[in-house]
Amino acid sequence: MSSQVALLNRITYYIVNRKGKQMRPMFVFLCAKLLNNGEVTERTYRGASVIELIHTASLVHDDVVDESNKRRGFFSINALWKNKIAVLVGDYLLSKGMLLCIQHEDFDLLKIISVAVREIVEGELLQIEKARRLDITEEVYYEIIRQKTATLIASCCSLGACSVKPDSQDVETFRKFGELCGMAFQIKDDLFDYGEEQIGKPTGIDIKEQKMTLPLIHVLNNCSNKEKRWLINSVKNHNKDKKRVKEVITFVKNRGGLDYAVSKMLLFKEEALHLLEAYPKSAYKDSLELMVNYVVERKK
Ligand code: IPE
Ligand code: IPE
Ligand code: MG
Ligand code: MG
Repeated sequence: MSSQVALLNRITYYIVNRKGKQMRPMFVFLCAKLLNNGEVTERTYRGASVIELIHTASLVHDDVVDESNKRRGFFSINALWKNKIAVLVGDYLLSKGMLLCIQHEDFDLLKIISVAVREIVEGELLQIEKARRLDITEEVYYEIIRQKTATLIASCCSLGACSVKPDSQDVETFRKFGELCGMAFQIKDDLFDYGEEQIGKPTGIDIKEQKMTLPLIHVLNNCSNKEKRWLINSVKNHNKDKKRVKEVITFVKNRGGLDYAVSKMLLFKEEALHLLEAYPKSAYKDSLELMVNYVVERKK
């Protein structure tokens, strides 16, 4: 990661010392191992590295977009160095990831990753569009989270498969598997926002950002017109009023919004596990199943 620019080195040092859960590289390795009798290749390692670089780049940019000041239990890059620098550092991480593929001529892996990058950007922009108009449906919510989050986890799994078995049907099966895990993963992340637990990043900020997630969408679809007007008006005109936001959160909880989101999350999880059934029993399959369960049970 080292560069000639001292400022950049300081920042990458800061980033490298605050690791996240590193779930995505784990998905890459486990999918490769499951398909290749426990063996991985140099390509698998590069794929895993690229994915974590791209993921980190997306978080650095996401915190600018969301004006969020905390990440992984510490200050975000934008909080410490301001937006200008965070934008450039995110681009640096992205290019480092792409270059790692290019230098080793892993063009099949690069293609998988580039599709994910394009979709993340589309998902983030679709989310902004919907936040402005406050007209998001459950279907559009799934499309947003599929693009902004699930595609990258899908690419972890297809890339792991592709690193050991290029051009096989397994690449597509594992892409789908990762996508389903990613859907469950983002619903879980959106549920955290309704909680008060310490997860290393701010909670209770989605409504402030006018970001409507599954619990709220479900309640909006299942309340009276009067209640709906109150909810929309709260999100639209009182989203910076802490007391009002708390009232909305309580309303969503009382009306079963969280329970509904949990039930949908578990459906995605079950669908993901179902795809693994076609593969013979192995230590790697057991581990992947543990990972899928971790996605929905994790505490941060
Ligand atoms: C956070 O992902 C971004 C989302 C897609 C919700 P993670 O929760 O995997 O982040 P780290 O890498 O562990 O910090
Ligand atoms: C996660 O977006 C997806 C990307 C980073 C592209 P969020 O804004 O929902 O994730 P957190 O909660 O900040 O990690
Ligand atoms: Mg965010
Ligand atoms: Mg965001």
